[in-house]
Amino acid sequence: MQPTRVLTGITTSGTPHLGNYVGAIRPALASSRAPGTESFYFLADYHALVKCQEPARVQRSTLEIAAAWLACGLEPDRVWFYRQSDIPEIPELTWLLTCVAGKGLLNRAHAYKAAVDRNRETGEDDDAGISAGLFMYPVLMAADILLFNAHKVPVGRDQVQHIEMARDFAQRFNHLYGGPAGKGYFTLPEAVIEEQVATLPGLDGRKMSKSYDNTIALFAPPETLRKLVYSIVTDSREPGQAKDADSSSVFQLYGAFAGAGETAAMRQAFSDGIAWGDAKQALFERIDAEVAPLRERYEALVARPAVIEAQLRDGAQRLRDRYATPLLRELREVVGLRDLGRAPQPAAAATAKADKAPTPAFKQYREADGRFHFKLVRGERVLLHGAGFESARDAGQRIAALRRDGYAGPDARLVPGEGVGADEVAAALAALAAAAAEKAAGKAGPA
Ligand code: TRP
Repeated sequence: MQPTRVLTGITTSGTPHLGNYVGAIRPALASSRAPGTESFYFLADYHALVKCQEPARVQRSTLEIAAAWLACGLEPDRVWFYRQSDIPEIPELTWLLTCVAGKGLLNRAHAYKAAVDRNRETGEDDDAGISAGLFMYPVLMAADILLFNAHKVPVGRDQVQHIEMARDFAQRFNHLYGGPAGKGYFTLPEAVIEEQVATLPGLDGRKMSKSYDNTIALFAPPETLRKLVYSIVTDSREPGQAKDADSSSVFQLYGAFAGAGETAAMRQAFSDGIAWGDAKQALFERIDAEVAPLRERYEALVARPAVIEAQLRDGAQRLRDRYATPLLRELREVVGLRDLGRAPQPAAAATAKADKAPTPAFKQYREADGRFHFKLVRGERVLLHGAGFESARDAGQRIAALRRDGYAGPDARLVPGEGVGADEVAAALAALAAAAAEKAAGKAGPA
């Protein structure tokens, strides 16, 4: 059986903290040991450039994050471990995907939209200070994922939209260019959201995050670790007064590092009125017990960066030989970046004559209430219903936007048909786009 490919990218723009360890590193390494998985871990240093333009910091962060994952038990012989910028096929694929990606879909990416909204609030031009890198971020991320045909991508909630976009680009590419036995070139990846993985509170009680500046560095020296733990915000209850475990960051952090028995005992100690100082001391000791051996390995690794450099390069080289280089060779062929000496071949999709499914169509109509509606249908099946537009023009514009930008999920005016998922709609829109492209290329009929 083909193993499940699980792929995770880590942006190299910060220092690993306890939240990264509990929320990402520890669970990822545990699941990489599950049988039947092929795991890919990479340092997303191209992505780091979008946010961070301090070269020394990008370099340092890449070293620290690589050393942290290795120190925590990543085995480069059993999983793929590499650096994004060592794989030139990633930017190459990014361009191929850029050419099928709907600009309108990218306009709706959360991070880009949030930046535009901030500009509007302050009365700036929409795109003031926004780089094309921020705008293209989702396409680069799609290339990371699609290059290795990952099945599963464990991510936080904020990244789910990016995985959906990767599916959309993959689908458009597959439809435009067909693929072996009509199956397409790219696997459609799925986001895996680890619900049960704790998000750790930081020093101030909000989620531990670099952007809140409330983190505890994973490999801080013990004295610093102790000071940071003692600086966690608590309420002002005195020793002997009962304390509420569930609303306490100290307790939540403790639970992330202690076993069930110890955690239950700590809960009891809270209701018995443990002093904050004692609770924090116990927390410090518990974290340090788990982290100390890792810290020792981490320090040894960071002291020998050339070893890590060699490991990363080796991982990238093997990965390119095995997957990236052959796939890009094929994709270049597929899109027409070809040896000029050979006879021209149409796209597989054009010859295979789009799989049996009927060509989808938009149908516009007017109801008795005088409003304008449309449907996206494929054969007998109604995929989407666009409801209640003021004018035929409004309805037409909405259809044009769907064709151009793709489907971003239901909204007040757009209702999916019975049992119709976003993928089915995306596939239909991709088929429409492919049919339109074929027509535009003047392939009116078979020669
Ligand atoms: N954007 C991801 C983040 O900020 C990092 C990332 C880059 C990534 N490429 C990826 C994650 C591919 C998963 C798959 O967390």
